[in-house]
This record gives sequence, C-alpha cells and structure tokens, in this order.
Amino acid sequence: MHHERIAILDYGSQYTRLITRRLRDLGAFGLVYGSNATAAEIGGADLKGVILSGGPMSVLEDGAPGLDPKILKLGVPVLGICYGQQLLARDLGGQIHRSTSREYGKSEIEVCGESVLFKGLPHHQTVWMSHGDHVEAAPKGYTVTAKTPTVPVAAMENAAARVYAIQFHPEVTHSAQGTPLLLNFLKACAMKLDWNAGNFIEEKVQAIRAQVGSGKVVLGLSGGVDSSVAALLLHKAIGDQLTCVFVDHGLLRKDEMKQVQAMFAPFDLKVNWVDASDEFLGALEGVTDPERKRKIIGGKFIDVFEREAKKVNADFLGQGTTYPDVIESSGIGGAILVKSHHNVGGLPERMKLKLVEPLRELFKDEVRATGLALGLPEEMNQRHPFPGPGLAVRLPGAITRERVTVLQNADAIFISELKASGWYGKTSQAFAVLLPVQTVGIMGDERTFEWMCSIRAVTSEDFMTADWARLPYELLDKIAQRIVREVKGINRVVFDITSKPPATIEYE
Ligand code: XMP
Repeated sequence: MHHERIAILDYGSQYTRLITRRLRDLGAFGLVYGSNATAAEIGGADLKGVILSGGPMSVLEDGAPGLDPKILKLGVPVLGICYGQQLLARDLGGQIHRSTSREYGKSEIEVCGESVLFKGLPHHQTVWMSHGDHVEAAPKGYTVTAKTPTVPVAAMENAAARVYAIQFHPEVTHSAQGTPLLLNFLKACAMKLDWNAGNFIEEKVQAIRAQVGSGKVVLGLSGGVDSSVAALLLHKAIGDQLTCVFVDHGLLRKDEMKQVQAMFAPFDLKVNWVDASDEFLGALEGVTDPERKRKIIGGKFIDVFEREAKKVNADFLGQGTTYPDVIESSGIGGAILVKSHHNVGGLPERMKLKLVEPLRELFKDEVRATGLALGLPEEMNQRHPFPGPGLAVRLPGAITRERVTVLQNADAIFISELKASGWYGKTSQAFAVLLPVQTVGIMGDERTFEWMCSIRAVTSEDFMTADWARLPYELLDKIAQRIVREVKGINRVVFDITSKPPATIEYE
C-alpha cells in the first residue's frame, strides 16, 4: 500500500512548505523535492501530479534552476506557481517581461473564459503576488485564464496537455480562493483525498517492518513529542526489537525523568534509564562560556549514548526527525543533519548504524495527531519544547548542583501556575532562568543576599521569531510571590519583556 503523491519541486520560495501544508489539509500527500529533481527521481505509479514552486530568481538569469523537460511527459498534471509559471513559459516558447522591481502584496485578478483551475470560482478575486518578472505572452497552445491591469498573464493553461500555471500564490491565505483552486488542481490529478494520521500509522508500521526485518533498533528518548512518537511507532511495528535510551544529564526539569517514566508506564517499552548527571555536571564544573557548555554537553551525550547503544548491539538508530527538520536542514537537495536535540552526529557512521526515521514526512501537528492516535496523553502532546542542553542554557555563569536545584524549583512553580491559570496552552514556551546575580533583599527583619530569577514566556509560530506573552499582572504577582517565598536561594523575580529578535528565546 502506498499513498498517492504530489511532487513539489522547490525553487527556493519561502512559501514552498505552505504548499505541502495546504495539500495535506485537503487530504493529499505532497513531498518536496529539490529543483534539480529529474523525471526518473520523482516518477512512479503513486505520482499523481507535479507542482513547481515559486522562487527568488529570474528565469532569465544565468544559473537559474530549470525543469527536466521529461517531467512534462510523465503524463500527470503540472501546476506552475510564480517562478514555476515563468519557467514553463520560458521553456515552452512564451514571452517573459523582465523587471527590476518586485510587485508584492494583494492584487485583484480577473478570470477570463473557461478553465480547469478556476472552475466554480468567482471571476474577480483577491490574490497574493510576490514577483519581479511576469509572463507577457503565453506559449503556443496555452490560453490566458486570468489577468490583472499590470500582469497580462496572471494565469494560463493548456487543458489538453494538463499544464496549468499562475503568477500568484494560492498557498498564502491572503489569496482568497487559493484553497479551492488547489482543490481544482487535485481534482484534475484525480487524486484520492484520503491522507490522514491513521493511514499513516498503518503504512509506516509496514514500512518499518520491511526496513528493519529482524534487526535491532536503539533510540534516544527525551520525552519530547518527536522522540516519544517515534518510539511508540517503532514499538508498534517491531516490539522488543526496539530499545530506548533515556539519558538524564542532570539538567532536566524538576522530576522530569519520573514524569517520562510515568508517561511510558502503560506501554510495554524497553527503556534504559541512565542517570549520567555526575558525569555531565562534573565535566561542566567551573565552565561559564556558553559555547563551551554546549560543546561539553553535546560531546558527553555522544559518549554516554554510544556506550549505552553498544550494550544493545543495534543495527539501526531510530530518530524522531520530522518533515520541518528535513526541509530546514536540506536547503535545496542537500544532506540531512542529525537532529541537534539528540546530538549524536557521527554516531551512525562510527557504529555502522543505519537510520530509521518514521516521522520524516510529518509536520509537527501531524506528529501530535499520530501521538494521540498511538495513545500518548493529550497533555504530553501539548508540552512546550525543551532544548537538548536543558537547563544549562538557562543557567548563565557556572553550573552547580545547588543552582540547578534552585532553578528547577522556581521553574516548577512558574509552570504549575501557568497551567492552573490556563496560560500554559496560550504560550509556546515558558521557563525560569537563574541569573548569576545576587541582590540585596529583606525577609522579616533580616537582610538577604540571594540570586535573581528571570521568568520568560513567549508566543511563537515557529520559534524563529517570538513575542513575549502578555501575562496578567495578577498572575505575575502570584508567581513572583510564590517563587520568593518557596524557593530558598531566590529573593527577586523579574519578567523578561524582550521579543525575538533581538533577544533569543533561551539565555545562552
Ligand atoms: P533560541 O534561544 O535560539 O531558541 O531563540 C529557539 C528554540 O530552539 C530551542 N533550542 C534548542 N533546542 N537544542 C535543542 O534541541 C539546542 O541546543 C537548542 N537551543 C535552543 C529553544 O528552546 C527554542 O525553542
């Protein structure tokens, strides 16, 4: 069983990911390929259509990425978007108007005549444009199906050849009819719209069994969504052939290992729980430079993981690599980086391990849906992300066991108050930071000289940018009071009101 597929060739547009997103929302499975992909690479019985994405270059420039002409002979419908349209026009003998300025923003198109793409859609519609060049005259055999006052060929198609092209971006929500237009394209592809997490699980279980056979898999389990879902999916497929390794580096959140243990208790998973905190904290003693801290933790993680993985005698390394990881680290057609979270780069080669990455095709919310379907608790599924180096990046200055404990206690209070007030789900990430600053305070009759704690809560779509969360004063007040009263070692709390950029989310 294999899912029908739309191939998306990525010419470098910032919106390429959105195309995949929209298709999946419509129940269609789309996979992104590099712009240099050949017909042989993308072809196959499961291929139902091809989309050529937008891109930042001009098709008239030297070195502009092109299109394998054999792709137009695969016998499936093709949709060119923006750069994709210009590429089709260039290669098929149309005329391109070269421009040095870009048109960017909303625009009104007027649909002309009958067309496959605009079938049943209004004749006047708002679309999102982002382009320099445009197609001035359509190639022979093509009908112009939409125009604007400045763009004579806002859309064109050759219904017999089943090639369609548009200047605007249907994947951007500002294009009012973008989703129905994509649906029209999928209909032209005769695509079954049956993609969902449930089919995915069955299909993956088969694929994992086929790949792993009777081999053994070792997987680094962090308790985060990705590694947890990957573990459960692998377990469903191969049961005891999977061993998970959970490394406690001594920089986890309060009671984190216990929570992960409780979460996995209902599943019959083999997990090796490793307390390596002495080893990590020992190596970090006296280290204050942020980069060195990260290097030490990354290096130690590999040491510990390798040691544990050897005991398993594994043939495969399981990883919770997701689709955004793949796209972000691949650029166009490049190699995939091993997830930084479980920084085990180099390990697969050294230990001669093959990779098994069952989530490679899934977006984050699809990973969550898969997790729910596999029986992970909703609460776990909604957990804020936690960085691989853990609390080390929230402890500027030297790291000691004592400071780790103080921070864990403050953080636990902050998070429990966010949950109790309903704000946890309204923020994307929240945590406490223990600053390497002692300030004077007064408790009862006594003067104190203790650490200062910063609390940070942000909202974010993708963690590339973030805004500080506008937590209510009453809540902030309660959190600050509780932390100072209950956590020995902290006598002052500040709230971080900096967005990213210019600040990062973490402190180191
Ligand atoms: P920054 O601090 O760069 O963080 O704004 C962006 C997001 O990345 C997380 N983060 C990490 N995750 N390993 C990880 O797995 C790391 O070394 C790491 N550093 C930052 C951070 O928590 C935030 O969600």
